[in-house]
Amino acid sequence: MCGIVGYIGTQAASGILLEGLRKLEYRGYDSAGIATVLEGEIHCVRAKGKLINLEEKLAGEDNPARIGIAHTRWATHGKPEEYNAHPHMDTAKRIAVIQNGIIENYRDLREELKSRGCEFRSDTDTEVIPHLIAEQLAESDTSLLEAVRLVVNRLKGAFAIAVISADYPDELIVGRQQAPVVLGFGQGEFYCASDTPALVPYTRAVLPLENGELARMTPLGVEIYSFDGHRLKKTPRTLNWNPVMVEKQGFKHFMLKEIYEQPGVVRACLEAYFDGEWAATDADKSPTHLGLPPELLTDLQHIQIVACGTSWHAGLVGKYLIEQVAGVPTTVHYASEFRYAPAPITSNTLTIGVTQSGETADTLAALEMEKKRRSGFTQPELQSRLLGITNRPESSLGDLVPHIIDTHAGIEIGVAATKTFVAQVMAFYALALDLTYRRTAKSPEQLEEILIGLRQLPAQMEVVLESQERYIEELAHDFAETQDFIFLGRGINFPIALEGALKLKEISYIHAEGYPAGEMKHGPIALLDAKVPVVAIAMPGAVYEKVLSNAQEARARDARLIGVTPMDEQEAADTFDTLIPVPHVDELLSPILTVIPLQLLAYHIAARRGLDVDQPRNLAKSVTVE
Ligand code: M6R
Repeated sequence: MCGIVGYIGTQAASGILLEGLRKLEYRGYDSAGIATVLEGEIHCVRAKGKLINLEEKLAGEDNPARIGIAHTRWATHGKPEEYNAHPHMDTAKRIAVIQNGIIENYRDLREELKSRGCEFRSDTDTEVIPHLIAEQLAESDTSLLEAVRLVVNRLKGAFAIAVISADYPDELIVGRQQAPVVLGFGQGEFYCASDTPALVPYTRAVLPLENGELARMTPLGVEIYSFDGHRLKKTPRTLNWNPVMVEKQGFKHFMLKEIYEQPGVVRACLEAYFDGEWAATDADKSPTHLGLPPELLTDLQHIQIVACGTSWHAGLVGKYLIEQVAGVPTTVHYASEFRYAPAPITSNTLTIGVTQSGETADTLAALEMEKKRRSGFTQPELQSRLLGITNRPESSLGDLVPHIIDTHAGIEIGVAATKTFVAQVMAFYALALDLTYRRTAKSPEQLEEILIGLRQLPAQMEVVLESQERYIEELAHDFAETQDFIFLGRGINFPIALEGALKLKEISYIHAEGYPAGEMKHGPIALLDAKVPVVAIAMPGAVYEKVLSNAQEARARDARLIGVTPMDEQEAADTFDTLIPVPHVDELLSPILTVIPLQLLAYHIAARRGLDVDQPRNLAKSVTVE
């Protein structure tokens, strides 16, 4: 959603704030704005559209202000116009506020303020905040911190805010309620941001604010308070990131860089999750070391997975693995549906929230709801067992659930998830094998065979990247004008068909549908003609012949057939018009390889169409609103 950044210290704030916004632009790019305190006034500049427009407006300005806040917006309330861009100010322009989230009771507050003569300049929910703070300051001889504290207690919803005032030129107040904000600590200078990439160029000493906390930042230090006014003692921790991780490192786009990082991510997951030496002769010890306690996983009768978007697709791969390998019945739910229509409560149930950002509002709400509805039960078998799979263990998800599988993908900047998806799938391999071992659902020899296959994946992924990227780039030329695509897969590769279609939709704006290959004849086949390419994932295994037959059905309707299939498979070569070969691999492990050509295809089609691959229209990297 939106990105917020703040600075107070010894240097000119505006350069630092703009640099921070650059790192947060993946969160939203409908408009951007900056406010600093300079010579007793607030200096505020805003621009519609991407950050570049704001930078152009600021070009040539030499603003020495040492305190400021800045914002990049993903529009929720009010169109993406300059008058709705943050920061927002009170009537006298003495207070400036930026916000990420939604103030749910803004209508009531707006009416209340209007009834007292307040005039609004925007359609946003945020504008009530500076007006309310101004009223508090006018009503009583109170501090800026206290005025903000009184106001945040009146706000309903999920929000993170940063506030400056022309009358308090040495104070930056930051608050958090259900939307992320991290503080950064330098030498006599302090920062806040929605996400750590904005901080790492300056400091690695960070402190995520928790829900219901306020920070008062001055050039002398940072004080933390609860929303009820109590001072809290907190210690920053050190991030093990470096600034290079948030640069493109020679790639044209973050997405392409992140696709290429995938073999390394799989290696990191193998190291983190599995015993590297394990063999069937070691059957007295587990092949995995996820560090999950026995009480979370013993006697499981049901696993329910909640997630959104690409994470939901990873959940579908997880369901396949957990059911087919470990034998535990598993359901996968859209978090946005589950939170309002949960499945009936079942005994001995593990609920897994999958979210790369750890901040997706729907996923957090679904998990919270599950926790709450089970808290009334005294029977141990009905109590909640919660697990998170995330790339950001320090996120809100980390606070909400007691156990986490960290996906070790490193920061992902491209809005389209790539390496984090592969890492989530790796987490599911580990969880499925952990459960398989605990339940002796497979023999040690069968487990060893899967492990041997997993260990070969990084090198096989490198083969796909090295041998296919140029070819897929050329192939993409054929589809620059295509309007519809169909992706087909079956079994464990059905979620990969969904993921291929989502990637293409997100970044190329081409309509695409992912479908289970066997279902096509029940409707979508009516869409097919020579103008609709069909990409089918056909990997030898339980459904190989079936997928090839389904592909033939498409061919009979003149569709151009593209097959993601192993090298040197004659039958596939005879079926498809175009082949994207991947190494021979066990069907069970194939999603890690088959997803790569689909990511590359989406990337190159979008790049060919001249689109903004890393920041596609209307999207945001982490969706912190409902
Ligand atoms: O951070 P999360 O994994 O919870 O995000 C969920 C979705 O918003 C996300 O996967 C979205 O679909 C991506 N843009 C996919 O590329």
